Amino acid sequence: MKTKVGIIGAGPSGLTLALLLQQKGIQSVIIENRSREYVENRVRAGLLEHNTVEVFDGLQVSERLHKEGLVHHGCYINYNGVSQRIDFEKYTQKQVTIYGQQEVVKDLINACEARQIPIIFEAEAKEIRNVESENPEIHFTHLGEEKVIYCDFVGGCDGFHGLARKTLPKNSYNEYKIEYPFSWLGILAYSVPTYDELIYAYHSNGFALASLRSEKVSRLYLQVDNNDNVENWSDEKIWNELELRLGITLDKGEVFEKSITPMRSFMIDNMQFGRLFLAGDSAHIVPPTGAKGLNLAVADIHNLAQGLIEFYESGSQENLENYSKKCVARVWRVQDFSNFMTYLCHKQAAEGSFESLLQKSKFDYLTISEAYQKTIAENYVGFPLDTFA
Ligand code: FAD
Ligand code: DHB
Repeated sequence: MKTKVGIIGAGPSGLTLALLLQQKGIQSVIIENRSREYVENRVRAGLLEHNTVEVFDGLQVSERLHKEGLVHHGCYINYNGVSQRIDFEKYTQKQVTIYGQQEVVKDLINACEARQIPIIFEAEAKEIRNVESENPEIHFTHLGEEKVIYCDFVGGCDGFHGLARKTLPKNSYNEYKIEYPFSWLGILAYSVPTYDELIYAYHSNGFALASLRSEKVSRLYLQVDNNDNVENWSDEKIWNELELRLGITLDKGEVFEKSITPMRSFMIDNMQFGRLFLAGDSAHIVPPTGAKGLNLAVADIHNLAQGLIEFYESGSQENLENYSKKCVARVWRVQDFSNFMTYLCHKQAAEGSFESLLQKSKFDYLTISEAYQKTIAENYVGFPLDTFA
């Protein structure tokens, strides 16, 4: 099979890339090792930066997003019951939109289907060859058969556990990571949100986050130990702990999703080699406090699509050559913000210890400083896409 851009992974990165290229008449093929049903129902992120919504608007895939998504103009950060609102509108004149990642993925797959972009599901990339030549190859298996995509470029959009990063020569990048000593227990519940904006709450028992998916579905998270297990958390125990840490009364409806996610910061400082380009989780992971993972993936893809479109339209490789440099500058900013929010809001040290008193001091500063609130607001809503040129 021959195409211009061979894309590995039908997550937000791969799907957005294919659609941006299609808009300019550039052909691509996506291979995805999971089934369509699996990727459309995988519960993950839920908060879209204004930039991300703009990219989807430009692709004309945002009709349902605007109908069903919930626009938020601020959020709350609480510390042992004291609450500080961060006003996005006041400091940035921008908003964020709550819309589940699985809904984003459904909309993008439907658009690919309608625009005749081939997605081969249950097709696993096994090897990426010849990336230093002008004719790279993706070797994959599908329905028990071995197949090859012959292409001009490879989009490595295959997530943290994918093949693309493993294909980069080890000496072509530096790797940075932190494994945090806590995880998030996340639930989805048929529960009417009793809060109008997201609440990030530090409590002496640990962090809690109140988010939502609609007027009838709540998305809530609790900080738990890394070795904890969902079996240790009955619905009753979860609701009680959430009410305690958030300091509000919740509508204790039916919990229909429950899972534990470890927290890590990870990145490499070079996202390209020859004609292989990495984007999204294949190149970086941020801890979810601040909701940046999906948004960062879309920002990478904006840069990659720009480079590929420029190449096919004018033959110039300038943007492609600068791809990694441009992305990594934003990744560092987002790594810092996600790490800052994680340390601000999670229980890490005994109350009364030096570390915990510094943490409390940061929160106290937030309650008296508009400058500090603005810093959080501008990072939270996201810097415009071409800021890190
Ligand atoms: P992915 O969505 O991971 O897509 C990669 C795709 O590649 C997958 O569909 C995978 O099946 C496919 N693939 C992998 N290997 C191969 C192969 N060899 N061949 C073919 N296909 C392959 N972010 C937030 O902002 N907030 C959150 O609350 C949040 N929660 C998360 C919870 C979990 C459990 C995880 C894992 C991530 C979470 N994230 C969250 C991060 C966010 O979901 C990701 O940043 C986002 O999915 C990145 O998109 P992507 O397309 O780069 O990668
Ligand atoms: C959600 C997840 C996040 O990590 C976050 O910071 C805010 C919201 C969510 O799933 O709704």
